[in-house]
Amino acid sequence: MYKKLFRPILFSFRPELIHNFSFLSIKILFKIPFIKFLSKKLFQLHNKNLEINIIGKTFKNRIGLAAGFDKNAELLHEMEYFGFSHVEVGTITPLPQDGNPKPRLFRLPKDKSLINRMGFNNDGVDKIAARIKSYKGKIVIGANIGKNKMTPNDRAVDDYIICFKKLREDVDYFVINISSPNTPNLRKLQSKDSLSVILGKIQIENNSQKNLVPIFIKIAPDLSFKEIDDILDISKKYKIDGIIATNTTISRSGLKTKNLKKIGDGGLSGKPLATKSNSIIKYLRKKSDDKFVIIGVGGVYNVDDVIKKIESGADLIQVYTGWIYEGPSMVKNINSSLLKLEKRIVK
Ligand code: FNR
Repeated sequence: MYKKLFRPILFSFRPELIHNFSFLSIKILFKIPFIKFLSKKLFQLHNKNLEINIIGKTFKNRIGLAAGFDKNAELLHEMEYFGFSHVEVGTITPLPQDGNPKPRLFRLPKDKSLINRMGFNNDGVDKIAARIKSYKGKIVIGANIGKNKMTPNDRAVDDYIICFKKLREDVDYFVINISSPNTPNLRKLQSKDSLSVILGKIQIENNSQKNLVPIFIKIAPDLSFKEIDDILDISKKYKIDGIIATNTTISRSGLKTKNLKKIGDGGLSGKPLATKSNSIIKYLRKKSDDKFVIIGVGGVYNVDDVIKKIESGADLIQVYTGWIYEGPSMVKNINSSLLKLEKRIVK
């Protein structure tokens, strides 16, 4: 029904307008108890065999909402109703910021993808921390943290530390985002020296209190294997729990969509990212032990995409663009197919 009826209507408007409209509609609709009841029936699937224990937490299933959708932690309860086991909030920066000028989000229906150059538009860590604190649901919450656009790279570590300190009591894991293509020079923080400074200071802060919070790094799909090796070395040195692979790509190769110049810069997500993301996941798994957690993201639309990611070595899966294209039943559909294939892949 979503793909036949709602999607054509929604896709006839500008993507960011529809994003904001859908957000507001979900917020309003979920105030009605019947909608909650209906969503539970339609979109949730609970089964012990779908559960997985990772980083000391029980995830109800393997599918989570990737960073960038609920940037400000406004829909945590609602995302639980849509069947996600975890939501990665953010990217969160110390100060609120508007992001890049609009338009900054584009649909490429022929390629089942999106291009965005949002630029970390978010409400800032204080407001977001307060929302997360007030959340009393059961979903696992990750905080994806970054730096403000105005902060130079040599002071980026301070921004990560500010966010870490303000959120550490209330989130289940952190993601150090050094891979968005839409904040100038952010991806340079993936270099050995910059990353060592950030992870070193984060882990000093982390170890200063009794409860260690699991730390992930989110990497770009455009890195060479040599650069990934460096990141793995540093991750091991600083006892990082895992890697999220991957963020959006700056590559435009193989796309069917014409007139890409008109769209301009930004990160490409969705179908065209899947193969690249899977090859990085495979490489990461080959080079790390079983304790190292890999969260696979990029181009997931259905159970086959999920299986490919799990077979490549991912422990958990996240989606963003696929959810926009497939609609609210996506998570339940994937999980019910996984249950049918249980013997093959559910641990
Ligand atoms: C993103 N993504 C993203 N990632 C991140 O770490 N911080 C962010 O703020 C955002 N923002 C964002 C906005 C938009 C509009 C999109 C489409 C994506 C990247 C996202 O989390 C994911 O890594 C990629 O989109 C690849 O997954 P999908 O979309 O192919 O499932």
